[in-house]
Amino acid sequence: MEDKIIYMPCDTVEKFMRDAFVAAGVPAEDAALCANVLISADKRGIDSHGVGRLCSFYLDRIRDGVQQAVTNVEFVRKSGATAVVDGHAGMAMVVAKKSMEYAMECARKYGVGIVAVRNSSHFGRAGYYADLAAKEGMIGFCVTNARPAIAPTFSTQNVLGTNPIAFTMPSDEAFPFAFDCATSVAQRGKIELYGRLGKDLPPGWVIDVEGKTRTDTQGILADLMKSRAALAPLGGIGEEGAGYKGYGFATVVELLSSALQQGYFLSQLTGFAADGSKQSPRIGHFVMAINIENFTDLASFKKHVGNVLREIRSARKAPGHDRIYTAGEKEYLIALEREKTGIAINTALRKMMLKVKADYKLDNWELPFTEA
Ligand SMILES: NC(=O)c1ccc[n+]([C@@H]2O[C@H](COP(=O)([O-])OP(=O)(O)OC[C@H]3O[C@@H](n4cnc5c(N)ncnc54)[C@H](O)[C@@H]3O)[C@@H](O)[C@H]2O)c1
Repeated sequence: MEDKIIYMPCDTVEKFMRDAFVAAGVPAEDAALCANVLISADKRGIDSHGVGRLCSFYLDRIRDGVQQAVTNVEFVRKSGATAVVDGHAGMAMVVAKKSMEYAMECARKYGVGIVAVRNSSHFGRAGYYADLAAKEGMIGFCVTNARPAIAPTFSTQNVLGTNPIAFTMPSDEAFPFAFDCATSVAQRGKIELYGRLGKDLPPGWVIDVEGKTRTDTQGILADLMKSRAALAPLGGIGEEGAGYKGYGFATVVELLSSALQQGYFLSQLTGFAADGSKQSPRIGHFVMAINIENFTDLASFKKHVGNVLREIRSARKAPGHDRIYTAGEKEYLIALEREKTGIAINTALRKMMLKVKADYKLDNWELPFTEA
């Protein structure tokens, strides 16, 4: 049966999330930021990292005491253009934004700024923080480690996180070059999304303990937690599709996100202690800002980026395709569309939002539905 969809304006969903965060104890300014990061994903069509995770990744963790609603961003070391930050298990959106802002401050002074973060939590889409730098005329780079999900090439065990990489560079077009993706073929959020839609996964995304691919979404979501299924690295299972390249990128991200700041890594990021009790996500990030004007004037850089992107897009098209995209372009087009249509709220999301409204006593809220 087709799932019933209700469309809600982006602003309304953002305000609902902001109020939910405030009701969970997050200070108003931080709550607005957290909601803004999540809605920025929904707006761009990254449905895996938006409102769908409000409860399971944030409100539930605050309720369970494994994540702090009030965030203490401590700069434990500052030296020249670099810093090390401890997020003290607070709201990662606040930790990552403050870290990128400091990196940008350093970049204005020295041409580059780098901040390594330990003890944070899940910050949503990595591109949000890289975009902050691009809006200020800089190149933004942001990576994070995550709980174990990817099996290294020739393994069936989930060892590495889906460790995303985000680069944003300003261009002379209406949208920047914004490359932002996981180092697995598909990230966990996409599998959760398939779960919410009741769909099986395509083959090749997940490897089981026997080394075969699996497609049963709900079973996979349960088995990922028990280490009985793992995600294939970018490039796929084995060496044929060069999965070792995705595995290599995931390892680079893991090292950048943990070694410089002496943070937690790999199996220490499951979110569970040895006795099975829940513990803080203990995630690490690494952010960098490069000030373009230290190299060339900004207008020339933007034009150069635009020229590169336009030449790429003008390449000969493959049969059956009349358009080539560059990174960030599809998200820009979807955002234009969703500004008009709003966000699709399916049954699973309605159920979650009604539960949040009841649990957090958001009595002033009139959602456009009273049942899922
Ligand atoms: N915080 C975390 O722990 C975590 C972990 C994994 C992923 N994520 C986030 O999840 C989001 C989605 O990740 P994903 O791996 O599903 O991304 P994805 O597979 O959808 O790839 C997205 C990237 O590919 C580009 N792209 C898509 N189609 C294209 C085409 N035809 N031509 C050129 N470029 C194209 C997009 O512009 C974008 O840069 C990202 O925002 C990422 O940061 C976060």
